[in-house]
Amino acid sequence: MKIIEADFIYTPKGFIKSKAIAFTTQIEEIDTVETLKEKYPDAQTIQTKPNSVLYPGFINTHVHLEFSANKTSLKYGSFMPWLDSVIEHREDLVGACNNAIMQEQCNAMIRSGITTFGAISSFGNELEVCERTPQRVVFFNELIGSNAQYADMLYGDFTERVNASMSCEESSRITPAIAIHSPYSVHPIILQRAVNLAKQHTLPLSAHFLESQAEKEWLEYGEGELKGFFKKYFNTTTPVTTIPEFLHAFDSYPTHFTHAVQIETRGLEILAAKNHSIAHCPRSNRYLGCGRLPLEKLHDLGINYSVATDGLSSNDSLNIFDELRASLMLHQEIPIDILANKLIESVTSNAADILGLNIGRIEKEKSADFAVLTLPETPKREEEIALWTILHTKEVSSVLVDGEEIL
Ligand code: BEZ
Ligand code: FE2
Repeated sequence: MKIIEADFIYTPKGFIKSKAIAFTTQIEEIDTVETLKEKYPDAQTIQTKPNSVLYPGFINTHVHLEFSANKTSLKYGSFMPWLDSVIEHREDLVGACNNAIMQEQCNAMIRSGITTFGAISSFGNELEVCERTPQRVVFFNELIGSNAQYADMLYGDFTERVNASMSCEESSRITPAIAIHSPYSVHPIILQRAVNLAKQHTLPLSAHFLESQAEKEWLEYGEGELKGFFKKYFNTTTPVTTIPEFLHAFDSYPTHFTHAVQIETRGLEILAAKNHSIAHCPRSNRYLGCGRLPLEKLHDLGINYSVATDGLSSNDSLNIFDELRASLMLHQEIPIDILANKLIESVTSNAADILGLNIGRIEKEKSADFAVLTLPETPKREEEIALWTILHTKEVSSVLVDGEEIL
């Protein structure tokens, strides 16, 4: 048994003061430090610095580690030139991205308090690093391929990767999962097979969805900037699906849709009705000129969302606090205190519910995954702790996973 003390602890009932947590690999009890020490006299006590706030470990639901070598190769500013630059540089970037580079990015996430992340994997190259990192990883094997001719072959490769992630040692903390690349790039037949596979094994399911104006125009009218792309690379002039048909494929299985920036209110209502969730990646959306997700509508409709970094293919860091600060700046209409609290929820309890893991809340029997951060002074108004957390944290003070210190 261990005991950890902090000036403030973030719980489902809000920030509580002068309490401590007794834990093993899971949270056993929350009480005053005196009571816990009396009850567990042999427990090792961890005393955090003054003005520390103890959070459940933060969760980044959507990241592409295999693009971690990108710094200036990919073109930012607008979606289609970016996609063209991905096609041009993909091989070089993936080739340049070795285990050391990916592990360094896992470490950068740890330094920002990330104890769990969702890794979107196109080729399975990052499985070894994800097995070795001390964090939990939801390993999203990605399915891609709109051309019916190659669909069986691509689906076969995909199931091999799914099987490999299913056979990881339990100690690696890997949860196998499935990702659909996007509505425009996956043929409906293999899409349905992948959704059925997710249902059969109860695997988390995710899909990029309505990221750009170009995607929307292509899916709705078979027009726009993606038209030339499909003519050039696939010699086709019609999209493989429509927006309603794509969404319908996920009807009975709550799915984590990434971006959804270009979705209309009717689409959001469907997401709400079907218990789907959204990964909100504000810096990626800005860098690729995709627009702003209307978070206020998600709040009104009760759609669950997480703030996530996406990969370094469309970002400048995997630090979750950089992403939270960007979110604060972007959604100017939402009162800043309310937004700060919602954003913290989005990377803790909401993200845990989205990934279906027993983490994300400081509550009895949840896994003992913690991130401790230290504010520069005692907060003058305690109702603003979430805001000061986001504004003042570049890196956290310590991180624990399954009750063991990893930072
Ligand atoms: C496709 O298979 O349709 C596809 C692959 C990569 C990017 C876009 C589309
Ligand atoms: Fe992504």
